[in-house]
Amino acid sequence: MFKNILVAAALLFAAPQVFAADCSVELTGNDQLQFNKKSIEVSKACESFTINFKHIGKLAREVMGHDVVITKAADKDAVNTAGMQAGLANGYVPQDDGRVVAASDLIGGGESTSVRFDPKKLAGGDYVFFCSFPGHASIMTGNLKLVD
Ligand code: CO
Repeated sequence: MFKNILVAAALLFAAPQVFAADCSVELTGNDQLQFNKKSIEVSKACESFTINFKHIGKLAREVMGHDVVITKAADKDAVNTAGMQAGLANGYVPQDDGRVVAASDLIGGGESTSVRFDPKKLAGGDYVFFCSFPGHASIMTGNLKLVD
């Protein structure tokens, strides 16, 4: 009886934290063009998934800006090119472009932002995240994996 109460109490406290951890991830980028992750697992069970992104470098947005853009792997290069044309004023992200699943703000050293999306949008394809600042996408990129 007493043991059951302890188990129930443990579940009560543990469950919300597990859920929150499953539906968000902490991503960083630095002045050496490095994300700290090459792959992010996204649970199908999440109604929405959040990437909390922090620029841990010191350089300004105009010279070492980073963002997190999500597209199909096959769309990455074309979206990246369109982003360069969209320019700094648009955070190097093409506006109203259906190929962009989600995109964060473009940030500089010491700043943080986040990007949220519906995991259902990743069904049935290979998706990636990348930084759309000119010249960064070939290095600052990783896979998004939809998992149970
Ligand atoms: Co960047």
